Amino acid sequence: MTNETSRHSIAVIAGDGIGKEVVPSAITCLERIASIHGLDLVFTYFDWGSDFYGRHGRMMPIDGLDQLARHDAIFLGAVGSPEVPDTESLWGLLIPIRREFQQYINLRPVKTLDGVKSPLAAANPIDILIVRENNEGEYSEVGGRMYRGLPHESAVQETIFTRLGVSRAARYAAALAATRTGRLTSATKSNGIVHTMPFWDEVVAETVAQYPGVTVTHELVDALAAHLVLKPWTLDVIVASNLFGDILSDLGSSVTGSIGLAPSANLNPEGDFPSLFEPVHGSAPDIAGKNLANPVGQIWSGAMMLEHLGHPDAAAHLQSAFESALRHGHGTRDIGGTSTTTEFTQAILTAIDALAPVTA
Ligand code: NAI
Ligand code: MG
Repeated sequence: MTNETSRHSIAVIAGDGIGKEVVPSAITCLERIASIHGLDLVFTYFDWGSDFYGRHGRMMPIDGLDQLARHDAIFLGAVGSPEVPDTESLWGLLIPIRREFQQYINLRPVKTLDGVKSPLAAANPIDILIVRENNEGEYSEVGGRMYRGLPHESAVQETIFTRLGVSRAARYAAALAATRTGRLTSATKSNGIVHTMPFWDEVVAETVAQYPGVTVTHELVDALAAHLVLKPWTLDVIVASNLFGDILSDLGSSVTGSIGLAPSANLNPEGDFPSLFEPVHGSAPDIAGKNLANPVGQIWSGAMMLEHLGHPDAAAHLQSAFESALRHGHGTRDIGGTSTTTEFTQAILTAIDALAPVTA
């Protein structure tokens, strides 16, 4: 890591579908921010993804992870294409990066923004941080298929929770809650899933007990989903397993306006490996290539990357710029606007310049 310096090498994988539209948009914004804040961001582009798969039969080269490991951060668009099964595309690129680089935290902010209409009737401000365990849980590789094609064909997939995995997610979430209201909600389902979920609850409770200012509420995930729709403004930090966190964060981004706005950080908090920054959304084949994609999820992920690399002022500047553009009525179709991706990006660049600190 080169945290202390202003020079950072960033691996860029635009990937598939709208990734190829929102990544260039976000890079333009990051370059503008970098020039204002004196940062030397060195972007290296990798053409990995479903097209690469079409040519080479794999999503990235055999030494892809070694190539990525040399960078300070990874900036990803999205992967997934109707031509390639998701088991190949996601498990050939994104999941190996998350696992091999021990990006065990997936941090997903859920926040209302001025100028963006929530589909909820009541419109109190929402500011939630979802901490999703990102390495194990329900997304395990343990399992298999038997008797393919026969009437008794069967499939088994085991959920794996480890004390190490649950406690480090809980620790991260508790530390985060301590910097906010101290209220932590843990998504559980221990009334139905009677082995792994009570274990999750126990390890979360033990871990959070070490943080005196933090209280944890264990909420059944079905009730928590309803809570996210009915009174999301009463929630602060949520810690959830891989599957529950995935679902709750799509729901969360929708109640704040659009999945196109939602950012995420896949973090290796120790800094032993690069962390990865990507929007919550996928490759959106239904709107790909039409200049309709909302670039904010990607740009906001870029702001999280700047923060992670040790540049909170640059991150706040970028964040204020897209918030200002939204407040002034700019936006893509998914949030009721009329701008194309290109026009919306231009409005954000204008806001970056307008908000630039005045230098003597
Ligand atoms: P999706 O997130 O790509 O799209 C869901 C809906 O939201 C679509 O109607 C789409 O048009 C809309 N949408 C998404 N992002 C938007 C944006 N920036 N602006 C405006 N509208 C936006 O999810 P879907 O359709 O389930 O998945 C498509 C592909 O993406 C699949 O192959 C899936 O596996 C993959 N995927 C990849 C992810 C990743 O790379 N991290 C995450 C989620 C899905
Ligand atoms: Mg998802």
